[in-house]
Amino acid sequence: MEEINMCGIIAYTGKTQAVDMLLAGLFHLEYRGYDSSGIAVLGKNKIELRKKKGKVEELKKSILCHPLPKSTIGIGHTRWATHGVPNEINCHPHQIGNITLVHNGIIENYKTLKNSLEKQGYVFVSDTDSEVAAACLDACYKEERHALKAMAKAYQLLEGSFAFAILFEDHKEAIYAMRKHSPLVIGHGEDENFVASDISAFLQFSKKFITLQHEELAEIKKDNVHVYNLELKEIFKEPEISLLDANSVQKNNYDHFMLKEIHEEPQVVMDTIHSIMPNDVSDLSNAFPNLEKFNNIHIVGCGSAMYAGMVAKYMMEQYVRIRCECYCASEYRYQTPTYDENTLAVFISQSGETADTLAALRKVKEYGVKTYAIVNVIGSALSKEADHVIYTQAGKEVSVATTKAYCSQLCILSLMTIHLALLHNKLSSEDLKEIKEELSLLPDYIEKMIDYPYYETLAQQISTHDNVFFIGRGIDYILSLEGSLKLKEISYIHSEAYPAGELKHGTISLIEDKTPVIALVNEERLYEKTMSNIKEVKARGANVLLFVKDMRNISEDVYDECFLLPSLSKFLQGIVSIVPLQMLAYTCAKQRGCEIDQPRNLAKSVTVE
Ligand code: G6P
Repeated sequence: MEEINMCGIIAYTGKTQAVDMLLAGLFHLEYRGYDSSGIAVLGKNKIELRKKKGKVEELKKSILCHPLPKSTIGIGHTRWATHGVPNEINCHPHQIGNITLVHNGIIENYKTLKNSLEKQGYVFVSDTDSEVAAACLDACYKEERHALKAMAKAYQLLEGSFAFAILFEDHKEAIYAMRKHSPLVIGHGEDENFVASDISAFLQFSKKFITLQHEELAEIKKDNVHVYNLELKEIFKEPEISLLDANSVQKNNYDHFMLKEIHEEPQVVMDTIHSIMPNDVSDLSNAFPNLEKFNNIHIVGCGSAMYAGMVAKYMMEQYVRIRCECYCASEYRYQTPTYDENTLAVFISQSGETADTLAALRKVKEYGVKTYAIVNVIGSALSKEADHVIYTQAGKEVSVATTKAYCSQLCILSLMTIHLALLHNKLSSEDLKEIKEELSLLPDYIEKMIDYPYYETLAQQISTHDNVFFIGRGIDYILSLEGSLKLKEISYIHSEAYPAGELKHGTISLIEDKTPVIALVNEERLYEKTMSNIKEVKARGANVLLFVKDMRNISEDVYDECFLLPSLSKFLQGIVSIVPLQMLAYTCAKQRGCEIDQPRNLAKSVTVE
């Protein structure tokens, strides 16, 4: 069966125990998948493997019980399966003949290769394409008797995408690496070097790194690194220094990364705003060039990034009166919306590597559509391929459920809408004055939301239930979609967000005595309407948790718990109002004892279709 994987890879050669370094690296790579993991180390005479189903913690426990040989060189892998069950056979590293390797990517022609390798006598035990790649490399090595030559030869035979870290039984002093499409970086330390899918895997030990490019091969020893092209001509690469703070991949004193990352939101919001408007909100044309040319905006993303886009769609249409559609990238890539020379397609992605979002970008570029990317990870594929990139300043986000990155996306989109509103003369001087004042106060408002002392009480109303509903109108419905997604992905409570007026067309039948309904009420012009909908669910026994920015005229009998939101400009309200919903989801998941940072079945960066 075909195995398509996202997966994280790590390799180490140096002065300390490879097992410790590899495990440390794998823990940081779990955001790329965590259904099984494995490592291989070069023992005295042979390469030894250990693989385990489940999280890296399971692998660690297994090694603690039955230690691997002492070694200072090895490779490791953490997997996220889409095809082929997560078991120890399909788990990496894969070993055949002289080769032991870990792989991230998809070998598209693996069936053809497998047939021809089987004819040569290779026997396969797993369902994976990665094991076929190992055999292909071994066959090339048998012909060439030279590691790099064998890799260059295999490079031409393997179609699809790959990043490999490889151990050759015959070359016990080195790790070999090569890549096509899948990411791979090489870290330089003092008498130690690393290979990884992402710098976070070795950031604690080294900030110095080079990025391996397509059609490059590398030989990594403990005290030197050599990179070659496919003709085996050496390429000299100047190492870069990562600007990431090693603390960003540590939990510090927080119970979970998610909580730490929510607490970082005030700073992230400030950094994001400052990066877009060093001076004044009145002129954002450097951040959003040529925006006046476009009257048809498409916003595209997946998951929370798409929900951030929906907030922008709402604001752009409602407050600027400009045509804007928001699409789910996995749909958009196969649709044919109408584009013309006035269309701008905006792609939103924390990772900048999401397969569907990237494919959607590539598709519209073929039609000549101008593209913006709103991306968090510097140098990611989306940032390189879009015509213009705007970086969110969220820093490294570890928790699979996004919080601070979503907030920073909302900041960029709010500023973009404000800029459009100015270009289209839709902002009064009073509006602009209000926005200017509030922009500088946003971090304080967010901090107040985080510090609210009664999340435990609110969460208790929800965490014992199986079904929860969020309702709201206008922007409140859209923010509810994100609040509901946060809750379900980390607490495993079934949750749905509904436009408040729509619930009665079917779904209200699910409201029973004490069913939690979270009602969000920021939209002033729809205030009365939403209140009537809240009364409808209350009358059917719902337990209403009301999040509202104006308590006037609200009688106590329409809610069971109430949370008072601050009142901000309509362009900025969402950035603050989402925070309590994130905190509520976090607290519920904690009360239910869930694995908050790594919810089951998910991965942070989804690089498969
Ligand atoms: C995954 C993550 C989500 C994220 C989505 C899009 O599903 O679990 O939190 O919103 O991917 O990711 P991106 O990196 O493109 O923002």
